[in-house]
Amino acid sequence: MKIFIDTANVDEIREAASWGILSGVTTNPTLAARENRDYGIVLKEIIEIVDGPISAEVISLDKDGMIAEAKKLAAIHKNIVIKVPITEAGLATTKYLSGQGIKVNMTLVFSVNQAMLAAGAGAAFASPFLGRLDDINEDGMVLLSNMVKVYNNYDIDTQIIAASIRHPQHVTSAALIGVDIATIPFKVLQKMVKHPLTDKGIAQFLADWKKLQSAIGNSAGNTV
Ligand code: G3P
Repeated sequence: MKIFIDTANVDEIREAASWGILSGVTTNPTLAARENRDYGIVLKEIIEIVDGPISAEVISLDKDGMIAEAKKLAAIHKNIVIKVPITEAGLATTKYLSGQGIKVNMTLVFSVNQAMLAAGAGAAFASPFLGRLDDINEDGMVLLSNMVKVYNNYDIDTQIIAASIRHPQHVTSAALIGVDIATIPFKVLQKMVKHPLTDKGIAQFLADWKKLQSAIGNSAGNTV
């Protein structure tokens, strides 16, 4: 499973990229608004950091408006993927853009039917929102596993991006289901690194190392 980061915060992207685990980035208007910066400038900075698909979302609701915004965003760089909501206008926009060679990430997917329509319209990616389904007492993982099954049934090329991920267990479950990509907030990525036994193990190694150094009189305490 490829890991994308779900943020418009350039510092978070730079840090996660330095770990060597990032294959792409997803943003949306809410994430962009949190940064309080010009969206175009932020996207250009992200492109300098991550060499992979960078999703940027349109805010128009009509086809012509979406296409006009998409063309401006796509002109920034070849790695920009246009995030379009799954609506009737969104489907028509996706068909048009994919015909022009512009990749679309169809977003706000909450059902298998929406996922099939997104694929039919030519979306390169489809983003089911797991956490938001969990929020309303549904199970986001059921949607995810049904989407994987249906796409596999028909050899559909559209890649699934597990989105609206809220905690590490969402990531593990998505990987076990066999989804293509998970887009993960930075805070969840940090939690994925952690394990109490790792911290305990490091503390034990350091304590034992110090004991050895004082036993042999090595005040510098280096390994070599
Ligand atoms: O990738 C979509 C994501 O940003 C939405 O997450 O937590 O607002 O449902 P959330």
